[in-house]
Amino acid sequence: MMFILFIFLFFVGKSQSLDEWNCTENKHFLFSNDQLNEQCTITIEYISLQHYKQICITHRLSVKTLPLPSFNSNYAMHTFKINSCQLLTLNQLPFLLPATVENLDLSYNLLSTFTLSFPLPSYLKYLRLDHNPNLIDIKFSHNNGQQRLIGLSLRYNKKIRLSSLPPYLKQLDLTDCNLLQSPIFSLLRSLTKLTHLSLADNQLKQLPIIDKRTQLEYLNLSNNYLTYIDSGWLHKSLKILDLTFNRIESTEFFHEILTMNQTVKQIYRDPVSTN
Ligand SMILES: *[C@@H]1O[C@H](CO)[C@@H](O)[C@H](O)[C@H]1NC(C)=O
Ligand SMILES: *[C@@H]1O[C@H](CO)[C@@H](O)[C@H](O)[C@H]1NC(C)=O
Ligand SMILES: *[C@@H]1O[C@H](CO)[C@@H](O)[C@H](O)[C@H]1NC(C)=O
Repeated sequence: MMFILFIFLFFVGKSQSLDEWNCTENKHFLFSNDQLNEQCTITIEYISLQHYKQICITHRLSVKTLPLPSFNSNYAMHTFKINSCQLLTLNQLPFLLPATVENLDLSYNLLSTFTLSFPLPSYLKYLRLDHNPNLIDIKFSHNNGQQRLIGLSLRYNKKIRLSSLPPYLKQLDLTDCNLLQSPIFSLLRSLTKLTHLSLADNQLKQLPIIDKRTQLEYLNLSNNYLTYIDSGWLHKSLKILDLTFNRIESTEFFHEILTMNQTVKQIYRDPVSTN
């Protein structure tokens, strides 16, 4: 009887550990949906040389091993997401990430500091740290790591104080980061490679000076107290400008830029709050 019970427990334990990862073929791009479970979720995306994708998901932070390779070695880990797991430090990551990871998403956790350096992969391109309400500082180590980073998202981190930003950033999302109280503003000027910037929801009354070489294509300024946009911000490369929920008094300053031939330009203005 004991023996049978033992066998039974053995098989239950075994099948649970195999079920820890749920892997499927998936065509969706991981960063395209912003819907998140309340539940702790670790998501790994593998991409093959032929651009096929395999996505593996688990809900256990206690998982100790990476998914079993049910697919051939053509596949490399490309994206790693760990969301809503109450992560306090990176030491809690259950395993080391391979050097092939380009996208790292640590949103919806409880990190208070973050250091971009070993043991994190050194070829990271996109880093998301949204919704870490205690996050104060990020250290970008002075090596190749920060030179390759081109996307950084820090949405809804109201305590964030940065003393530097990676120099080659193209996409930066600072939505709802309490920027009025923050030294980040003076750092924006150094980011001449930026093409996508969001400063939405920050109670801004004015914008800092921007470097003339910066060629923004997307600029989201919605939900601030801006009355005027300096022409330095309206480079002719600009395709999408969101000015909804501001205090823009006159569109005079647009006239110069609007006369340029830009068929794709979209100007979002709030028709109500023109006071
Ligand atoms: C694995 O994921 C698929 C698709 O999300 C789901 O339908 C299925 O129930 C999951 N299987 C397990 C064992 O969790
Ligand atoms: C600008 O940001 C707000 C807040 O995140 C968002 O709701 C809005 O869709 C964005 N606008 C554009 C044009 O992307
Ligand atoms: C504006 O640009 C479009 C597309 O680049 C071009 O087809 C069109 O002739 C241009 N119009 C003028 C007035 O320059």
